[in-house]
Amino acid sequence: PKLVLAYSGGLDTSTQLAYLVNELGFEVAAYIADLGQDDVKTEEDKEEIKRKAELSGAYAFYCEDLRQEFVDDFVYPMIAANAIYEGRYLLGTSIARPAIGKRQVEICHNEGATHISHGSTGKGNDQVRFELCYLGMDPNLKCVTLWRDPTYCDKFQGRQDLIDYASQFNIPISQTKKHSYSEDENMLHISYESGELEDPAFPGTEDYPGMVLKKKSREIMDTPDQPVDLTISFESGIPSKVVNKTEGKEITGSLEIFDYLNTIGGEHGVGRIDIVENRYVGLKSRGCYETPGGSILYAAHHDLELLCLDREVMRIRDQLSLKYAELVYNGYWFSPEMAYLKHSMEYAQRTVTGEAHIRLHKANIMCRGRSSPNSLYSEALVSMDEHGGFDPTAGTGFINTLANRLKATKKRDTDFGTN
Ligand code: ARG
Ligand code: SIN
Repeated sequence: PKLVLAYSGGLDTSTQLAYLVNELGFEVAAYIADLGQDDVKTEEDKEEIKRKAELSGAYAFYCEDLRQEFVDDFVYPMIAANAIYEGRYLLGTSIARPAIGKRQVEICHNEGATHISHGSTGKGNDQVRFELCYLGMDPNLKCVTLWRDPTYCDKFQGRQDLIDYASQFNIPISQTKKHSYSEDENMLHISYESGELEDPAFPGTEDYPGMVLKKKSREIMDTPDQPVDLTISFESGIPSKVVNKTEGKEITGSLEIFDYLNTIGGEHGVGRIDIVENRYVGLKSRGCYETPGGSILYAAHHDLELLCLDREVMRIRDQLSLKYAELVYNGYWFSPEMAYLKHSMEYAQRTVTGEAHIRLHKANIMCRGRSSPNSLYSEALVSMDEHGGFDPTAGTGFINTLANRLKATKKRDTDFGTN
């Protein structure tokens, strides 16, 4: 039978590919999504991965440039929804999984493949995300999950077993492994997990031997002394333009905007976190992330929302943002509840149009002014210098009425000595 494998070119997926072909008898099409990660930057990189896939036994190879779709259909709507997991994580890996999986299912259909596979481990979130995405899109697909297959687990207990197996097929192995932690990179972020980082107290910085963290953003001491001022425009919650006021530069186009914010944000060292998070599978894990462009957009977008969104709409939206983040994290991008949430988020964003003025300096993202044709802000109403139509005498009854509950509680507690 035919199978489409989400392939990275690394030792793990190369071994899996060879195993699927040689031990399990699959015809395997290898597929890699270009989401802006460094390892598929150049044509040579892509050729190299293709060559490895072929050596490992793939009958077909797909390298698909999904960057535009990733930004437009996944990243920007998620930022507009203000979705942040556990107060910190901007979901850089989580949101990439349905983008990768969607195209993979389409390739299955092109190839007439009945089976589908990925290389994620049996302890993580990614397996859940990939498989829920596959099955949400095509319930007839059969998922082959080697990391959860007892025979496979028994055969490959460590890296040396993988190397021994791969060398039978002359699959090139990068011998010099610089570090033991794993990385996952796309346009939105790079993540570092496991290996040395498994000790949550071990600092995730490159002052420690073997650590090459910080690929997308600089250390604070290496950032410019001068700040940079940006004006970021949004239309209905989606970024539409960036102006670098310091250099007089203007950037349009959704992908170009994102790339630019990554570059300038990285230069100024913004968007790095080091956290412990809760995996869907019930484990706590430690991760270090760099999300320069994404962090700038979250800050700018939220700043503009405070000007344009009604207070109570925003309160409800905030509750839904938590749910949205949880659904993205847990792998429910293609689910009925997510479809429902997306509609509601889009509705809330209708009026989020305007500009946010942002300064980047020494790893800080500072909001320094905002404006919108849909502003709900009234200088006249809020001014300390004029009435502006606000009737302060109406406040007496309003506040007394609001205080009724508080007075009742106080009286009861005084009378009965409760507290
Ligand atoms: N903990 C993050 C998440 O669950 C990052 C996972 C990184 N994945 C990887 N295959 N290295 O979204
Ligand atoms: C993995 O286990 O494959 C990576 C980590 C995760 O998915 O949470």
